[in-house]
Amino acid sequence: MGHKTLILGIETSCDDTAASVVGNGRDVLSNVVSSQESFHQRFGGIVPEIASRRHLEVINPVIDEALAKAGVTFADLDGIAVTYGPGLVGSLLVGVSAAKALSFSLDLPLVAVNHLEGHIYANFLTGATIAFPLICLIVSGGHTSLLHVKGHGQLEVLGRTRDDAAGEVFDKIARALGLGFPGGPVIDQLAQQGEGEKFSFPRALMGTEGKLDFSFSGVKTAVLNRIRREKEQGKPLPLNDLCAAFQDAVVDALVEKSARAVEYLQPRQFLLAGGVAANGELRKRLRFRLAPLEVEVIYPPLEYCTDNAAMIAAAGYYYLRQGSLASYDLNAEPGLDLENP
Ligand code: KG4
Ligand code: ZN
Repeated sequence: MGHKTLILGIETSCDDTAASVVGNGRDVLSNVVSSQESFHQRFGGIVPEIASRRHLEVINPVIDEALAKAGVTFADLDGIAVTYGPGLVGSLLVGVSAAKALSFSLDLPLVAVNHLEGHIYANFLTGATIAFPLICLIVSGGHTSLLHVKGHGQLEVLGRTRDDAAGEVFDKIARALGLGFPGGPVIDQLAQQGEGEKFSFPRALMGTEGKLDFSFSGVKTAVLNRIRREKEQGKPLPLNDLCAAFQDAVVDALVEKSARAVEYLQPRQFLLAGGVAANGELRKRLRFRLAPLEVEVIYPPLEYCTDNAAMIAAAGYYYLRQGSLASYDLNAEPGLDLENP
């Protein structure tokens, strides 16, 4: 048995402090995520100052725990991979600084990973063999994009949201319904007991003129208005049905545009990525719709859908193999996008 290349991944782009040790880009030896959810919940969203302060407090213990759980020491590592954007600048800086300090003091190569690209690599942790070119739908709290992925780091954006991201809309509707933060998992749950046909919400840009772009601000406004009207009637909110109908509208658009992209480019594989990839209805309907299109549909394991450092370590492994290394002037890039990784 040969030596596995061990990468320590570090992720602090938003409100989770995460570290993970991954072997050869696919064997997760540890995956530690320290969630700040309880600190932000009462504000109904993430407070940047609280997030960066909390990252600072827990980053070292989280890294130590990732090494301990993997049963390795710093001396066993072959590289450090860190998220450098997009995200909150104060949060990103904590991870980037920690990674640079470790890389320098341990004399290990440093790899900078685009958080969005990291989400794609959650699919490499399934055990499936991933082969380019492929199509990936990234649906997270801040992004909704259909990508043509031609190789490691070679991405072309086929379509993207023109306004709100899918996850963002889940969070806003959940907030209006008093369901707390983050909203996706709760809506996913409640919708299972609801009937989507009870309400009809708009699906935007479904004609060909919308190309492969998405728009979710229309459905958001329609649902918010409906919630207001229901509240005005003074009766208890039909929570389950509202959640189901809202989720149906968002999932319909995601599934339909994904199918069009597959029909158009006929890739051999289709990957789902990002926090909203955990959504049960999306996973079910996408698989069903793509089944006749002769494309292998691959989803990340549920624990690697939302933010984690295992996906960052996995992406880092391929970058390291390609020799794409970062230097010590690496900085946090809060506005980093997908076509300039
Ligand atoms: O990728 P992620 O962890 O963080 C970002 O990079 O944004 O995505 C977080 C988003 C949140 O908006 C959350 O509500 C959503 O993913 N989410 C879900 C589900 N689980 C998380 N949305 C729908 N259904 C879910 N089961
Ligand atoms: Zn994310």
